[in-house]
Amino acid sequence: MHRANALTSGIALARRYNREKAVHVADNDHIPLWGGRFEKTPAAALQEFGASLPVDKRLWAQDIAGSQAHARMLAAQGVLSQQDAELIVTGLDTIAKQITDGDFDFDIVDEDIHMSIERALTEAIGDAGRRLHTGRSRNDQVATDARLYCKQQSIALARQLLKARQTLIAVAEANCSVILPGYTHMQKAQPVLFSHHLLAYSWMLARDFRRMIAARDAADNSPLGAAALAGTSYPLDRQRTASELGFSSVIPNSLDAVSDRDFMLDLIYACTTAMIHLSRLSEELILWSTEEFGFITLDDTYATGSSIMPQKKNPDFAELVRGKAGRVVGDLVGLLTVLKGLPLAYNKDLQEDKEGTFDAIDTLSASLAAITGMLATLRVNADTMLQAAQGGFMAATDLADFLVGTGMPFREAHEVVGRIVLYAEKKQCALQELSLAELSEFSTAFDAAVMDVIDIAAVVARRTTEGGTSPASVEVQLAEARKLIEADERML
Ligand code: ARG
Repeated sequence: MHRANALTSGIALARRYNREKAVHVADNDHIPLWGGRFEKTPAAALQEFGASLPVDKRLWAQDIAGSQAHARMLAAQGVLSQQDAELIVTGLDTIAKQITDGDFDFDIVDEDIHMSIERALTEAIGDAGRRLHTGRSRNDQVATDARLYCKQQSIALARQLLKARQTLIAVAEANCSVILPGYTHMQKAQPVLFSHHLLAYSWMLARDFRRMIAARDAADNSPLGAAALAGTSYPLDRQRTASELGFSSVIPNSLDAVSDRDFMLDLIYACTTAMIHLSRLSEELILWSTEEFGFITLDDTYATGSSIMPQKKNPDFAELVRGKAGRVVGDLVGLLTVLKGLPLAYNKDLQEDKEGTFDAIDTLSASLAAITGMLATLRVNADTMLQAAQGGFMAATDLADFLVGTGMPFREAHEVVGRIVLYAEKKQCALQELSLAELSEFSTAFDAAVMDVIDIAAVVARRTTEGGTSPASVEVQLAEARKLIEADERML
């Protein structure tokens, strides 16, 4: 009794879920397209449990393209008449239009998008529709659709990543002389240029771009023609369907073709690293926009208020990006776990591949849009940043380096400056506020030139190493970042 109740409420939940996803839930005794071998229709509850339509309906355009390529190829190979192929192609065009116009009835009894479209086609054109699935299985069909979709989406995400990089670079350029404290262990360490700090994120996203391109390439092989698992006895031309669909090659092993989901793992992984980077950036934006830091002010359009505290301006969207990074990590672990231990070839477990993949794509896309807009509109509080950069004894290394320049061994200089910092800390003043006379108490090697050396802007300007924070080095870095964007644009 207990168990029956649990099951019934599970069904109710599944029904509500499907309704929310705008999929029609039928109560009839509908016979599936594979019904010939069966004496009964699937239990109503399991019909919904087994269906993937609410999730995979977004593959409709890829499914139609794949079916049209398959039909044309069957006709070219003499497996299907030209007339049937034409009926199929135009019938599928009509279905595509119905779907775009919102006139298509997605019915959960069809199980998935492949069955849904095939049923509608057969209803529209009769026997020709029933011939479409010749020499094909849903196993190679779904792998084809998913690959086409992942290819498109990785390119779209790569474009968004480019846009985010361009925005980071534009904000860096617009604030190229702004100095803020650089931190290690969340303690003020050495002053850096704000542009240098932002560019660090642009390089992270540049690596994500590469990963996205790698994900696109991983999806760029055609499984179509592998049929259920072993290939087929029909004289299929796999090269033809592959090139018609824009794949650069054919997957050489039919078992691998229907069971490989590495391309999805690659894409989710690319999404995951990008989300981790956006999450780290979000954390800094959140921190910098606190009253305690005050380094930036988020635009009103990228912040929210509190329902009770009238004074609040919260960085909700940055917090959401930080939080959503967690679900994308979950998507990656989820699919890895689905694949672990799966024997060849197709198993229904693989139907669980899509929800997490789509979620990772959607989440990264929305997060990139949020962060890009946030960066483009935020206000940089240069004075507050500079003020903060004066504290924390961040010129200490340079003070030691000055002594090294007079011939003192670095370890000794480190010790001397350590004592100066202790003195300044007790006196509650900055290093720059100490007089030459005070400094000379600690070492006779100091002279008047030391004052220029410990000026914060001078400290920054001296970091001229390749990749360092001096304005000159950052200028070179900016040019490199811009050049890489141009090269990356050509990869799309
Ligand atoms: N909806 C299925 C999926 O997403 C399509 C393939 C079903 N194949 C099968 N033999 N049941 O994986």
